[in-house]
Amino acid sequence: MSYVRFENVKKIYHAGEVDIEALSGASFEVEKGEIAAIVGASGAGKTTLLNILGGMDKLTSGRVFLDNREISNLSQRELTTYRRYDIGFVFQFYNLIQNLTALENVSLATQICKDPVDSAQILREVGLADRMANFPAQLSGGEQQRVAIARALAKNPKLMLCDEPTGALDYNTGKAILKLLQDTSRRTGMTVIIITHNQALTAMADRVIKVRNGSIYSVEKNDHITPVEEIEW
Ligand SMILES: Nc1ncnc2c1ncn2[C@@H]1O[C@H](COP(=O)(O)OP(=O)(O)O)[C@@H](O)[C@H]1O
Ligand SMILES: [Mg+2]
Repeated sequence: MSYVRFENVKKIYHAGEVDIEALSGASFEVEKGEIAAIVGASGAGKTTLLNILGGMDKLTSGRVFLDNREISNLSQRELTTYRRYDIGFVFQFYNLIQNLTALENVSLATQICKDPVDSAQILREVGLADRMANFPAQLSGGEQQRVAIARALAKNPKLMLCDEPTGALDYNTGKAILKLLQDTSRRTGMTVIIITHNQALTAMADRVIKVRNGSIYSVEKNDHITPVEEIEW
């Protein structure tokens, strides 16, 4: 079985009197070590997909697997453990703790996991050797996102989930962040799923999953991976 597998996943949100079908039977797979890009318009269901895969939201029907384990039938308690150990999250806004330094932000995350990687080493690998003692407010947006990526990587998760990781960054900084994700995946074999509404980014991904109106519109394997530095948009 593929490393990540969605089987006919439906998600209906109940908002007052109305039901909103955010996912209407989504199926796709991602192989271990791949970078997968999930693309689609705003409201298509991308975040819903990622939140279900990350154990932050429950599906209405269907099944989801990670690494040969069904996660769609886990209890709340099991999901807590799953989020803690198995998933690294990177969001558009970095969600760093403002009164902790970069190093402390990363170290804190490693305290609740089984098999952490050395926090200082990870910060060096993301290019922040000189900024470990800085607080988030003393760092640029791109540097803060590097801390957030380091925090996710330090957990040594099975899967990195990134929801619009460049959404708050300017063009060049966004590119540098994507390059970091691409290089990290190549170096460590980490499986990375990146949500974006930027079609140009699909050139860097091994697999491109297009979402439209709650359905998977297409899944394409990319045979001509472009290094991020060569992509223009
Ligand atoms: N918690 C929620 N309650 C009600 N509706 C929601 C909720 N989360 C998302 N939706 C709706 O589900 C649909 C898909 O949303 P989302 O997955 O956030 O899309 P995307 O990330 O592609 O922009 C949208 O119509 C959105 O309004
Ligand atoms: Mg979204």
